[in-house]
Amino acid sequence: PITPVILCGGSGTRLWPLSRKSYPKQFTKLIGNDSLFQQSASRFTSPAFAAPVVVTNSDFRFTATQQLSDIGIDPGAVLIEPEARNTAPALLAAALKVIEDDPDTLILAAPSDHFIKDTDTFLASVERAVPCALNGQIVTFGILPTHPETGYGYLELGDETADGCTALHRFVEKPDLKTAQDMLATDRFLWNAGIFLYKASTLVDAFSKHAPDMLGLVATAVSAAQHDLGFLRLDPTAWAACEDISIDFAIMEKASNLAVIKHEGDWSDLGGWDAIQKQMPTDDDGVSTHGPSLAVDCANTLLRSENDDVQIVGLGLSDIVAIAMPDAVLVADRSRVADLGVVVKEMRKHK
Ligand code: GDD
Ligand code: MG
Repeated sequence: PITPVILCGGSGTRLWPLSRKSYPKQFTKLIGNDSLFQQSASRFTSPAFAAPVVVTNSDFRFTATQQLSDIGIDPGAVLIEPEARNTAPALLAAALKVIEDDPDTLILAAPSDHFIKDTDTFLASVERAVPCALNGQIVTFGILPTHPETGYGYLELGDETADGCTALHRFVEKPDLKTAQDMLATDRFLWNAGIFLYKASTLVDAFSKHAPDMLGLVATAVSAAQHDLGFLRLDPTAWAACEDISIDFAIMEKASNLAVIKHEGDWSDLGGWDAIQKQMPTDDDGVSTHGPSLAVDCANTLLRSENDDVQIVGLGLSDIVAIAMPDAVLVADRSRVADLGVVVKEMRKHK
């Protein structure tokens, strides 16, 4: 079976004030009755999958295990990062843990901040990736791009391979706008969904080639890890010495054994309030409301109260996003919500 590795240590800033450092978006019920983290774990409950390995930080460890137990899922190992070091060391630690059982174990690296409605099509894409991953490739999942997004990775398609994938010619992580526009114009690129399938040994080999120092440190962090109430707490000294870098920059941009499966189903990384509104019911004027909120003569507006005691009333608004939490309210011009991440990072600095 495939071992899912679910990453849930990020702290989303672009969905402030709903996504907070203390309670990031993957644990909130943004869409539907389950959190994004729960929805992500629920995608991997078929017999094709082993119990999920969860990698998160100390602050979220009880939230993560409680949310899994609420939906009846028993995790495998739960790895605790002493501090956030981004996705490269997190995925390497999980691979080193999994490899202890069997180096050929297939790992599906899954972020927990995504929204995928059509699970069957998603699982079919994963299935198509299996032969290629067993052949020693790191398989990425490509999404047909719709605009020159600078927050994603881009996959340049090469030739089809005998095992049913497409070779990946080049991986470009988070390009500038001009580069993104140029890539989009060629029709040869897909967006990277941020989901990867590989053998545990394939990933470890890639680190030994492209990031050997990190491999040494993370191997120490795993072998010196402390068992603590069912969690595996990675060794803080070795962990602190690791570079803070994503898997995309550390490995994917450098590795040559990459392949891509085009994922034809739906996928959204819910990267901002616009993306959230796309998943919400919207009236003919482009207005969505959630919680106690009322829009009168509004257009292209999102009013969302996450607090039963606070009503939002919008009157004659256009192109406004208003989000009310118990302790914070956002009122923004729709054209500016993409800048929210920068604003929130500034605010955190001054706290
Ligand atoms: N455990 C752990 N520790 N998880 C982390 C950490 C960390 O330090 N940092 C991030 N994560 C988790 C996030 O919670 C999320 O589920 C996932 O790892 C991906 O991290 P993001 O920070 O959200 O990455 P991104 O969205 O900027 O970029 C990635 O995803 C894009 C698609 O959504 C890249 O893979 C891009 O290439 C890709 O296009
Ligand atoms: Mg993300």
